[in-house]
Amino acid sequence: MTLDRILHSQGFGTRKWCRGLIGNGDFSIGGDVVTDAGLQIETEGLQFTVFGEPWTYREQVYIALYKPAGFECSRKPSHHPGVLSLLPDQFALRDVQPVGRLDHDTTGLLLMSDDGAFIHAQSSPKRHVPKVYAATTHDPVTPDLVGLLLGGVKLHDEPGLLAAEYCRKSGEYQLEIVLEQGKYHQVKRMLAAAGNHCTELVRTQIGNLKLAELGIAPGSWCYLDETQLAQLAPPFTKLD
Ligand code: URA
Repeated sequence: MTLDRILHSQGFGTRKWCRGLIGNGDFSIGGDVVTDAGLQIETEGLQFTVFGEPWTYREQVYIALYKPAGFECSRKPSHHPGVLSLLPDQFALRDVQPVGRLDHDTTGLLLMSDDGAFIHAQSSPKRHVPKVYAATTHDPVTPDLVGLLLGGVKLHDEPGLLAAEYCRKSGEYQLEIVLEQGKYHQVKRMLAAAGNHCTELVRTQIGNLKLAELGIAPGSWCYLDETQLAQLAPPFTKLD
């Protein structure tokens, strides 16, 4: 692929802009400045530097973001900054999007990618990808509450009952709940339907991929490798 196409594919701007950037000497490979934007380069394993910052060529990107509170997942955020503002500009330019949504006040693990098939598969209800949430409640967590969430509660506008795959008390005002669906405000609405109120919500795990094992702080992100991506697929085993 030619250099200008490579940089364009990685979200550095239009091909014209990328040609300018390369021509100006702001692009290098292995420490050598390359100014010929039409140069054909093998993309596999390609590492390069733009404006002094190192990059690795990635055909698609798969990212885990530790979403902090106060950010919206929507593409056109209205009341709070969008989660894309937490990532380098290149990602928005290559159309990286959140996989599903977390509420603006929910924190925790959010997957992001520019691979449409991955986003679709990961969000599909048919795939039954379990998501683990740690919820803090207004009133104490009782065995009845856990029983109701496991047995199923009726939510407005939803046919039938919605039940947690798994739920357990983890503290006086804390519970861990696993859902396979991703309905609007689902945890908060289920807790309200069961007679309590969610005061804080953190998504701690998707499939078998645990936020705590990624070693990222709130507001930070990391690329996901093949092994981590494989952890997103069922069967769901890890919950300790
Ligand atoms: N359930 C909710 O209520 N909110 C979220 O952000 C995620 C799941």
